[in-house]
Amino acid sequence: METVYGITPHGGKLVNLEDFSDAAMAAAKQLPALEINAWNLSDLELIAIGGFSPLTGFMTSDDYHSVVKNMHLKNGVIWSVPITLPVSADVAARLELNKEIALTKDGQIYGTMVVEDKYTPDKDLEAQNVYGTTELAHPGVKRLFENGDVYLGGSVKMLQPLSHGDFSDYYMKPIETRKMFHDLGWSTIVGFQTRNPIHRAHEYIQKLAMENVDGLLLNPLVGETKADDIPADVRMESYKTIIKYYYPKDRVRLVIYPAAMRYAGPKEAILHAIVRKNYGCTDFIVGRDHAGVGDYYGTYEAQELIASVEDEMGMHFFKFDNSFYCQKCGSMATQKTCPHGADDHISLSGTKVRGMLADGVVPPKEVSRPEVAKVLIEGLKKKREAEA
Ligand code: ADX
Repeated sequence: METVYGITPHGGKLVNLEDFSDAAMAAAKQLPALEINAWNLSDLELIAIGGFSPLTGFMTSDDYHSVVKNMHLKNGVIWSVPITLPVSADVAARLELNKEIALTKDGQIYGTMVVEDKYTPDKDLEAQNVYGTTELAHPGVKRLFENGDVYLGGSVKMLQPLSHGDFSDYYMKPIETRKMFHDLGWSTIVGFQTRNPIHRAHEYIQKLAMENVDGLLLNPLVGETKADDIPADVRMESYKTIIKYYYPKDRVRLVIYPAAMRYAGPKEAILHAIVRKNYGCTDFIVGRDHAGVGDYYGTYEAQELIASVEDEMGMHFFKFDNSFYCQKCGSMATQKTCPHGADDHISLSGTKVRGMLADGVVPPKEVSRPEVAKVLIEGLKKKREAEA
């Protein structure tokens, strides 16, 4: 057993359900196979490596209903977003209860699962309670309703590590990040979730938090995102670049978070924090409209929900107001520190910045570090050329 360093994992125990032995793979080849998608596969990985501790499998109906209705697992541990394996009713009918199946992607076996439960979710309630809306215009809700109508629940094993391609050097399991923090001598670590290229407001709130802790885990989500988000490989260059030019190397580590983005706002903020706690973070940053999309959530709704459960989360949260550059202050600021009006403030929406970058236009240096803007413009251009 490897030592689990650092903060107590969520629910008490860091899960590890990997078995990369030849024997396990040989046995799995005899099982009925279920083909899963990239999203399910990333969930399987996060369960198996302990990112989703204390989960040991896809949720069974009692955990699912408890999470949807009460934001807690049936054992009373706080949990905000159901982790489920949806299949069609036809597929579900072919699978036997309490039998093991192999989980495949593109025909390759990645894991196994004991089908402990097959159940019909209440998608309307799930949409409303998890995403705050039943509108199909919401990307998370759209996906929820496109998914199969039966959920499979049961414990899993991972039989083969996933390839993280170009991100391999930045992939670590929770047990490994914990050991790394221990070796670095860090006892307080702030986690930062992002699905966007890094900008000045991100940098500002990270550095405000860094003034108070031993180190920063810059932990960008690199799983599935919606089509108009900047691709993860291009974003990764932005993180490496800003660290290179603007961060003290001994106080930050860049590690990928290989999950899919749910866009569930406040509920996803809690999930994001749980996972970072499992990675060993003692602290987590929640800024404005965390994990939001469109106008579905209030600017500080995620912070309000977090504040109501902070004690039971067992970690500390840095909550930051909307940050911008103030020309009169000559610095980054928020409403809490700047007395000047909106006319003096420079901040651009994500959509606007994405448009500028796509057109090869460098955003103002008050919004994006020039070195970062350069790699983003080049990265997007290369992508366009490769796709043409
Ligand atoms: S998210 O969907 O992953 O939350 P994003 O990458 O934009 O999106 O945000 C990462 C983190 O930075 C979140 O905690 C978010 O609330 C915060 N954040 C982003 N922009 C700002 C800003 N201008 N001011 C304050 N916090 C911000």
